[in-house]
Amino acid sequence: MVWIQASRIRLHYLNASDGDCTVVGDADVRESLVMRPRSQLIAWKVAGRVSDRHMSADEVVRETGWVFNNATGDHLTLADFVATGDEEVPAYLEAFGLRSPENHQQTMIEIGSGIGRMTAAFTREFSDVIAADLDIGFLERCHETVSRYGRADHLRTLEVADGRSLALGDDSVDFAFSYLTLQHCAQGDALNLAREAVRVTRSGGRIALNFRGPSRLDPLLLPLGIVVRNSFRLPRVGEWLSQRRSIARLAWQVSRISPSQVLATLGGSVDGVTIWSGGPVDDVQSAFRRGRFDGINQNHWWITATVT
Ligand SMILES: C[S@@+](CC[C@H](N)C(=O)[O-])C[C@H]1O[C@@H](n2cnc3c(N)ncnc32)[C@H](O)[C@@H]1O
Repeated sequence: MVWIQASRIRLHYLNASDGDCTVVGDADVRESLVMRPRSQLIAWKVAGRVSDRHMSADEVVRETGWVFNNATGDHLTLADFVATGDEEVPAYLEAFGLRSPENHQQTMIEIGSGIGRMTAAFTREFSDVIAADLDIGFLERCHETVSRYGRADHLRTLEVADGRSLALGDDSVDFAFSYLTLQHCAQGDALNLAREAVRVTRSGGRIALNFRGPSRLDPLLLPLGIVVRNSFRLPRVGEWLSQRRSIARLAWQVSRISPSQVLATLGGSVDGVTIWSGGPVDDVQSAFRRGRFDGINQNHWWITATVT
């Protein structure tokens, strides 16, 4: 067991290398402790730092396009990148029955916004968008992206400093959304963020959360991921690794979560649950509605629900 400082202002106690982290006190102790962030946060922290160092979000897309679409090169532009979000946001909202004129008067949170690929579109759909991410480097780039391609006057940002809780009051938003993020969190953090999504959403509001389910390759991929993530701790090696897309992708392999785990966690706090997939999902209890949307990756699934 070791003490770590996982945010700029809070002190955390680490129980296991890839495990849970409990807030035990608040203090600005950055200078006084040797920091050792939990390994599942490292790859993103390094990527965020690298993003921050680039001159513009366009440069981030050209140089570190691996973060999102596994491509790099001068032909890539932030505009192209945002265009993928512009397509996906309405597609998902419509498929899930969550696109309505009321959205224009509503507040939503996007958990794991990255540099704003989808956030720009959300700021055109909702009057108040809270972009939440582990790394403030990403959030700064997200602000830049939304300023250029969305409605910056509709945007707030929120650092998820401990990777597992949202510094927002209960009932703060009408809609909580997360895509391509919870699979990168340790299981305990992902389930906690799902609970947090429900907590910050008002009664009658909606959630749409994306997870990656278990697959046959996991016994190989997950241990390799642990090894690669720990290599990110090495000075300079982490930044080098973070630009090598196939290696970096291994580092992101953190957790696989099945619908029954999420449903057990959320319990009676949600209603009208639908489990969405692009293919078969094991382990869905018959009590829940199944939705099918061909745009969903075969290894992914979504939960949509109304908060009770
Ligand atoms: C693959 S990107 C997806 C970004 C965006 N959702 C999209 O679809 O373009 C994953 C993002 O999740 C963020 N992330 C990873 N773990 C997180 C955590 N525990 N809490 C909040 N954000 C996290 C990373 O920093 C990164 O920006």
